[in-house]
Amino acid sequence: MSEKLIARAGDTVAVASDHAGIALKTMLSKDLESMGFKVLDLGTNDETSVDYPDFGHALAKAVTGGQASAGVVVCGTGIGISIAANRHAGARAALVHDDFTAKMSREHNDANILALGARTVGEEAARGLLKTFFSTEFEGGRHARRVEKLG
Ligand code: RB5
Repeated sequence: MSEKLIARAGDTVAVASDHAGIALKTMLSKDLESMGFKVLDLGTNDETSVDYPDFGHALAKAVTGGQASAGVVVCGTGIGISIAANRHAGARAALVHDDFTAKMSREHNDANILALGARTVGEEAARGLLKTFFSTEFEGGRHARRVEKLG
């Protein structure tokens, strides 16, 4: 498989959500396993109301610290948890809503974290976005210079 995919079969992909994202996180975890990834589930794992930053921070630490090659975060809108994840140097969380943004987040931004809103994207659509994200290569070239400037 290509070097420019964010993760290859056998690699670990971390997942995290708040209470609003549990069902989608569970579904996407199964898809990730079917795609050949090991899944590191950082919670939350019950319906008790929790604070999305705790999970966004934990996931970003796992990705930037090398415990996982990439990550998937889910909250109600995907906004809060992606903001939390992006406060970590080296984390590039992309909140995507359609196939185009999922594709561009990889081709142009080399995103290493996929952020989804459980209340904004349907389950089947989210599964498609997951597939696009993990099967799309970073284009490199001029985009590598720009990604480098993200720090
Ligand atoms: C929780 O109700 C909700 O605020 C959270 O899941 C998320 O949408 C925040 O951005």
